[in-house]
Amino acid sequence: MKEIFNRRSIRSYENRPVEKEKIEKLLRAAMQAPSAANQQPWEFIVVENKDTLKKLSTMSPYSKAAEGSAVTFVLLANTENFIVETAWQQDMAAAAENLLLEATYLGLGAVWFGVATADTCVTYVKETFKLPENIKPFALISVGYPENQENQFVDRYSESKVHYEGFK
Ligand SMILES: Cc1cc2nc3c(=O)[nH]c(=O)nc-3n(C[C@H](O)[C@H](O)[C@H](O)COP(=O)(O)O)c2cc1C
Repeated sequence: MKEIFNRRSIRSYENRPVEKEKIEKLLRAAMQAPSAANQQPWEFIVVENKDTLKKLSTMSPYSKAAEGSAVTFVLLANTENFIVETAWQQDMAAAAENLLLEATYLGLGAVWFGVATADTCVTYVKETFKLPENIKPFALISVGYPENQENQFVDRYSESKVHYEGFK
């Protein structure tokens, strides 16, 4: 699957929208992810509004690229759907990676901005969207047509990280 190898974090986008059909395909890919006990804890806010994109871009010093994106997905987990509570971040990460790979497949560029990685970002997203207590922010994924950057292969295979039959 070439998308796994070619996917890169793309932080610069053309000034044009992503088609509704593609947005739906990205969401479908995310929701197709595996999850513990099939709990599917995810919820998604789809943001195309320029003011809201700008607001998200100031979530952290590392989320600036959200401002120029055509669409940013806010990945959230709903605690009411938890069956295996300890697995929610793993479920969400699987959904996030699916979305990134589908974006690559569709000729789009995307980047993952960590939210659950920092309490300040969690609070920022909660306040921005006035989220109820049961909704936990996980990540932002900004998407658009790539500009000045492309999805291209970088070889990260490292034989030294592979251990056969035991750790040595
Ligand atoms: C949990 C997580 C959090 C990340 N947070 C950010 C971020 O806040 N800002 C950003 O520009 N990239 C972020 N990234 C993207 C990484 O910087 C990127 O995946 C990494 O540098 C490898 O580059 P590549 O995606 O082009 O392969 C994040 C990725 C992950 C998995």
